[in-house]
Amino acid sequence: MSAALIDGKSFAAGLRARVAALVQPFHAQTGRTPGLAVVLVGEDPASAVYVRAKGKATREAGMESIEHKLPDTTSQEELLALVDKLNADPTVDGILVQLPLPGHLDAEEVLLRIDPGKDVDGFHPVNAGRLATGLPGFVPCTPLGCLMLLEDLHGDLSGMDAVVVGRSNIVGKPMAALLTAKSCTVTVAHSRTRNLPHYLKHADIVVAAVGRANFVKGDWIKPGATVIDVGINRVDGRLVGDVDFDSAASVAGAITPVPGGVGPMTIACLLRNTLVAAYRHEE
Ligand code: GUN
Repeated sequence: MSAALIDGKSFAAGLRARVAALVQPFHAQTGRTPGLAVVLVGEDPASAVYVRAKGKATREAGMESIEHKLPDTTSQEELLALVDKLNADPTVDGILVQLPLPGHLDAEEVLLRIDPGKDVDGFHPVNAGRLATGLPGFVPCTPLGCLMLLEDLHGDLSGMDAVVVGRSNIVGKPMAALLTAKSCTVTVAHSRTRNLPHYLKHADIVVAAVGRANFVKGDWIKPGATVIDVGINRVDGRLVGDVDFDSAASVAGAITPVPGGVGPMTIACLLRNTLVAAYRHEE
């Protein structure tokens, strides 16, 4: 392995500490504590793990975690009514509805119902539009975390060639918008891209977010490139990314491990977005 490891775990710990250090002055200034409401519907075990981790991190940062666990049988109307209640609650600064929702629920309608000013996930079309047009808003936590790691490593990203593999609303599209805003030349590749190695050959930055284990191979990557692996896939009981780590690490200049790379940044950025939301609610 010749690539430097990008230590997202330690960067995330630093960010969480910086957020926590700002909660006390916020409280002194406003007399209240920032609050994050997390809504979990159903019994998906992976979602339950994520929600528990989000609640714990929120409390550790000195913020209030308001957790709503609803049964699988929850109706669309009941879920929308809860979102309405959280929108109207002045102690709630951020609202996160954990995805995926059970199949009988319409996630799009639920996300549209969240007050864009409390949308700390950055999934509301108003926030997606704000990102696309360069207006301030909430940026989805995972791509925001990836950008922080890239800027920490490179400083100015201007003029760099970036390939984002994946075009999801949660990662690929906002990642491409963020890198474009930082003056990268951005290519968005996806499952229908005909010749992915052709595009990766020129990429100074690769962000892999396709949800396929070990999909991006080392010999597709430009020597010295920075590789950010967003994937979390379970293979034979082991967590692996969307990048074939061993082959990529022998070619790349720097690479995020899985786990311990991008993953911890997502929760840290959620806390950061919640604190920003709380300050905006005081304006
Ligand atoms: N499911 C997987 N990742 C996320 C996330 O970042 N936010 C929400 N709400 N659900 C998710």
